[in-house]
Formats: sequence, C-alpha cells, structure tokens
Amino acid sequence: MSAATEAESTRKAIRHSIAVIPGDGIGTEVVPAALQVLDPLMSRHGIQVDWVEYPWGSEYYRANGRMMAEDGLEQLVQHDAIFFGAVGAPGIPDNLTLWGLLIPIRRTFEQYVNLRPVRYVPGVPSPLKNPEGIDLIIVRENVEGEYSQVGGRFGIGDAEAAVQEAVFTRAGVTRIAAYAAELARGRRGQLTSATKSNGIIHTMPFWDEVVAEVVARTPGVKLRTVLVDALAAALVLRPQQFDVIVASNLFGDILSDLAAGCIGSIGLAASANINPERKYPSMFEPVHGSAPDIAGRGWANPLAQMSTASLMLDHLGHPGAAAELTAAVDGVLRHGPRTPDLGGTATTKDVTKAVLDHLSSSTPTRSTR
Ligand SMILES: NC(=O)c1ccc[n+]([C@@H]2O[C@H](COP(=O)([O-])OP(=O)(O)OC[C@H]3O[C@@H](n4cnc5c(N)ncnc54)[C@H](O)[C@@H]3O)[C@@H](O)[C@H]2O)c1
Repeated sequence: MSAATEAESTRKAIRHSIAVIPGDGIGTEVVPAALQVLDPLMSRHGIQVDWVEYPWGSEYYRANGRMMAEDGLEQLVQHDAIFFGAVGAPGIPDNLTLWGLLIPIRRTFEQYVNLRPVRYVPGVPSPLKNPEGIDLIIVRENVEGEYSQVGGRFGIGDAEAAVQEAVFTRAGVTRIAAYAAELARGRRGQLTSATKSNGIIHTMPFWDEVVAEVVARTPGVKLRTVLVDALAAALVLRPQQFDVIVASNLFGDILSDLAAGCIGSIGLAASANINPERKYPSMFEPVHGSAPDIAGRGWANPLAQMSTASLMLDHLGHPGAAAELTAAVDGVLRHGPRTPDLGGTATTKDVTKAVLDHLSSSTPTRSTR
C-alpha cells in the first residue's frame, strides 16, 4: 500500500461518537453554530463523527422532573466526548440545574481538570489599557474543594444557620497540581497557585503544602503562591506575567470569569472538563452560562463554543483541525464581524458565516496522530 493510500485509510478509520447537550438559553444557539462549523472542518480532515443529541436541561426538567434521563450517565459513557452548551433557566434554582446535570457528569466521569485558556487576540476591544500578550491557562480543580455536598441547614427563626464544608483530599490536590505543573513545564515554566491560607486556615495551608511538594518534584517549573485577592488584582493590572494558574474549584471558577473579562468578553472563553486518564469521556463547554438576558435574540457570541470545539478536537487527537479552527476564530476576532458583547452589531449567524468563510479560505493541515 502506498504511503498516501495508507494515510487515507488511516484517516477513513477515524470515527467519533460525540454526545451533544445544548442545554438552556444561549446554549441552544451557540452549540448549533459550532456544529455548523465543525461538520465541514471535520469532514475536510477525514474525521467522521456521529453526533448524538440529548435534549436534557431545564425544559426536560419541567416535563420530567429531572435534568437528564435516569440512565443519562450510562448513555453518555458510551461516547468519545461530550459537547455541552450551558444550563440554567429563570424560575428553576441554579443549584438544582447545576447539580442535576453538569456536576454529576464532571464527578462520575472523574473530569478533575477544568482547563480554561485565556488568550488576547490583538484588535479586540478590552477593558484593559494594555491587554497585548495575555496568554495564560487556568487549571481549576473540578470535582472537590468548596463545591461539596457536606453541610446542611439547621435551627429555626433567628437561630437558623447553614454550614458548607470544603473538602480537599491529598489525592485530589496532588493530581491537579501535577497536571498544572506538567502543563507549565511545556509552556513558560511559571506556575501560580491561588491560595487564601491567611483566612481559610485548614484547607488552604494543606493545598499550599501539597502543591509545593508536587512542584518540587517537577524540574523546570517555578512556583509562586499568591493570595487569591491579590491575584485577582494582579490579573487585571499585570495579566501578562501569568502562565499557568492552578486553583481550587471556587477560586478557579471566579478567576476564569475575571480573566475572560480582561480579553474582552466571557463570550470568548473556552473550557474543557478533562479526565486525563481517558477512562471516561471528557466534556467540552464554554465558561459562560445560559445568559437568559440575551437568550432568543440571536446575538450570542458563538466564539467561546467554537474555541471549546477546538479544545475537543485537540483532545480527540486532531491538532491540525483544532489549529485551523483556532486560526479562523482569531481571524474573525481581528477583522470582525463582532457581536454586541464585543461592541459590534453582528448576529450569531453573521459570526458563524465569517468563521466558515475563514475556514474555506485556509489550507488544511494534516490532523491525525
Ligand atoms: N456551565 C454552565 O452551564 C454555567 C456557567 C455559568 C452560569 N450558568 C447558569 O447560567 C445562568 C446565567 O448565569 P450568569 O448570568 O451568572 O452568567 P452568564 O455567563 O450566563 O452571563 C453573564 C453575562 O455575560 C453575557 N454572556 C455570557 N455568554 C455570552 C455570549 N456567548 N455572548 C454574549 N454575551 C454573553 C450574558 O449576556 C450576561 O450578561 C444561571 O442560571 C447560571 O446558573 C451555567
């Protein structure tokens, strides 16, 4: 068999099964936009895909009293990846939507790494005076920490109280620190750990200790431990000095919205919930939520969902297709059109068409590994 035919047959053999959960609000607008871009891109790269859509989310809850099917996790585990939009709807408590869908997926599938890259593309309006050169990744611990089920409410009347325990395990902190350190080693070697060990006196000194032990075993990585309040200010004042930031579940969640704001809009921020051992499917969803304030108007910025798709392509072993999609998103960010969150007047459809135009004018690169 010639090398070209061999490459062709290898490419033909690639077939993925991907679960699609658009969810609520703008999730149902930006997910179809991203699929519209993914279909021709993947086919051009010889990647065949079966998209299996699940109608889970708040509407499903209103009809069935639960956020996903009873055997939802058994259905999802069959897929190579999960492509997710957002959940959350006015009238249903946010803790119910989150704990009924996203959190069970993240925890059951041991997606303990939440990767949130933040990169500034020149020309995009930013609230910062000097956003040039922002290129960082937040590695958020995704399955324990402050988001725990331990606690409760007790007492009545003026004596009523609520207790919420944060749970940090040595295994949990070790694995997230190791992932972040390895990631930093492959980049600029600078790892910042977000802490609050001055105020939170049990879990945070423990976090600091374990992170320091792990980084000490990773040559070529310099660790800086910074109190999260000061870190929030530094992210606004000197964002270029950060390379990889490792943070607990809550701190990582807050810092990534802040960092997304610094590059122009939360409508640009991608994220991946990764099971590094690949025992279970990983889940790819933008940082933003369902944005009920703009849902249904056709204005949602689809670029975060498309950048999320790029992270998914990379994870599935198609770095060429991923790079092409990133370049197309960057091209649209540089030259427009732009949705209202970036000061423009374009619709989701306009931006999607512009990304498709960029893709059709680019030269495909080989993507299989
Ligand atoms: N992972 C998730 O599914 C997730 C994450 C965050 C919030 N939520 C849920 O989403 C709902 C709304 O929460 P919120 O308002 O705090 O956060 P949000 O991210 O939905 O919206 C915050 C602000 O950013 C804007 N925005 C967000 N994404 C945008 C996009 N792609 N294009 C243009 N503008 C965009 C919104 O219009 C809003 O003004 C809540 O129910 C919340 O629980 C879900």
